[in-house]
Amino acid sequence: MLADLPENSIDLVITSPPFALRRKKSYGNVSAEKYCEWFLPYAGAIARVLKPRGSFVLDIGGSWNKGEPTRTLYHFDLLLRLCGEKGLFKLAQEFYWYNPAKMPAPAQWVTIDRVRVKDAINPIWWLSKSSRPKASNKRVLKPYTKSMENLLAKGYNAGPRPSGHVISKNWNRHQGGAIPSNLIIAANTKSNDKYLRGCREHNLEVHPARFVDVIPEFFIKFLTRSGDLVLDPFSGSNVVGAAAERLGRKWISIEINKDYVVGSAFRFDGIGENIYSRYLLEPRNHFITGKS
Ligand SMILES: C[S@@+](CC[C@H](N)C(=O)[O-])C[C@H]1O[C@@H](n2cnc3c(N)ncnc32)[C@H](O)[C@@H]1O
Repeated sequence: MLADLPENSIDLVITSPPFALRRKKSYGNVSAEKYCEWFLPYAGAIARVLKPRGSFVLDIGGSWNKGEPTRTLYHFDLLLRLCGEKGLFKLAQEFYWYNPAKMPAPAQWVTIDRVRVKDAINPIWWLSKSSRPKASNKRVLKPYTKSMENLLAKGYNAGPRPSGHVISKNWNRHQGGAIPSNLIIAANTKSNDKYLRGCREHNLEVHPARFVDVIPEFFIKFLTRSGDLVLDPFSGSNVVGAAAERLGRKWISIEINKDYVVGSAFRFDGIGENIYSRYLLEPRNHFITGKS
């Protein structure tokens, strides 16, 4: 399907492909040894469809080696292959998603032997074709903290700091909010939204590895403008498409598992039932892609 899209047509690709997990998810995972080989053709197809100033945001968790409490290096290996000398992309910035609700796993090392701590961070690589991808942190400002509000009200001393940074007088200006960092804290604690209700009522599997909507929302606002086109080629329950729709962007989502596609339709008012009944009529050869 990626091959059918025109080149230079997408503003942002944001996705979370199957990771090379030791404990496999129901949708299947590729082994760490074969991961780069498996992923690189997709990366080539993504580079082709991305606009020159577009971004490719890749959520890619690490995993544990089989039988011992050590970590695989496949996602670093992939990053080097994607962005090394002959790579397709530049590393615009690395982000880290801290999910405080992650389970303490693998149980053997974390809760039984107690020799490792909970792994609760996913790296997210922000990649781009050019060194100046379209971006504006003004679209993702956070509210100032109380202490920053106080500082702005009282004013503070300009000049050098022990760290070597020089604080100019401009720092004292109210800029409409604080610039966020590259650590995003977000947990999936929803237990009763439209999507979950739709899946339960129609006996469809709830996707086991959903994005928290804060993640795509952040990158869509940061890296695109209203009307831009966002693509998720491994879209699962389509958290990305739903976020793009809410934010007034166009979107295309691709997913191999039809049950997940049908479940994802319940994210959008008024189409879930319709798509579900068409799916029941033609469960084998029905394929749906979304596009607002
Ligand atoms: C980590 S999940 C994505 C979850 C998604 N971000 C969400 O919020 O629901 C990866 C998804 O990729 C799908 N997938 C695996 N191979 C694929 C392929 N070749 N083409 C499209 N989707 C694929 C899996 O079925 C799975 O739903």
